[in-house]
Amino acid sequence: MIGVFDSGFGGLTILRDLVKKLPTYDFAYLGDNSRAPYGNRSFETIYRYTLEAVNYLFSLGCPLVLLACNTASAKALRTIQQNDLPQIAPQNRVLGIIRPMSEEIANFTKTGHIGILGTEGTISSESYLLEIAKFYPNLKVSQTACPILVPLVENGLQNHPATEIFVQEYTSEILGIDPQIDTLLLACTHYPLLEKVFEKVLPPTVRAIAQGKVIAEKTANYLSRHPEIDKCISKNGTVKFLTTDSAEFFNKGAKNFWNGELQSKSVAV
Ligand code: DGL
Repeated sequence: MIGVFDSGFGGLTILRDLVKKLPTYDFAYLGDNSRAPYGNRSFETIYRYTLEAVNYLFSLGCPLVLLACNTASAKALRTIQQNDLPQIAPQNRVLGIIRPMSEEIANFTKTGHIGILGTEGTISSESYLLEIAKFYPNLKVSQTACPILVPLVENGLQNHPATEIFVQEYTSEILGIDPQIDTLLLACTHYPLLEKVFEKVLPPTVRAIAQGKVIAEKTANYLSRHPEIDKCISKNGTVKFLTTDSAEFFNKGAKNFWNGELQSKSVAV
């Protein structure tokens, strides 16, 4: 299976596109709902939680684990890849979503001015600034943390007037920093649920970009370039949903993020 990890429900917005792009592959999705959200937590905590989840997905037989969470990708990925993986499972791979997104971001902009919106953890890590600068040193990148958006979405308030006020507030802030921005990257797994709100408040010159499609394309591309990993992944077209909270809680909350009903299993990582 391909292991897909997120702090909670948000990674389901990435998984949706992965399953569409790779329908024959088997997936195991793990949401660390009992400890979510990760957005405001310390580096040490996010690293420890993420490593536990990666180890758990390895123990299920996932040779490839995708951290479908910007905050975990920003705070934990590098240390896991460099320090832990060589010792715990050198034959396995752990990928994040910041690098593949950064590789493609230039294709969306005409002005060369990009805005990044994400959690406090993602923004303070400056991971997007660093990654994008590696590939496109001439792009002008600005960023703003939007700490209130995850709790609003988690509480099912995406259509509430208060949500529109906050989206307006954050987008005005970033467009105030750089009025030439024409591409706003929704660098948080929860924000695709707010795409309509972003569309409504943004000027017509600015487009909000969700991550799912790009990540699915890049994962497929990775697998085609790494047959040694690809051949270890089972392909029966199944998706397993696992959560560290109760299955009932996950099944109910996931409806907002996954088109349709699902049945999950509660696990201890
Ligand atoms: N999945 C997280 C992200 O993409 C958002 C939710 C959280 O803060 O845990 O950054």
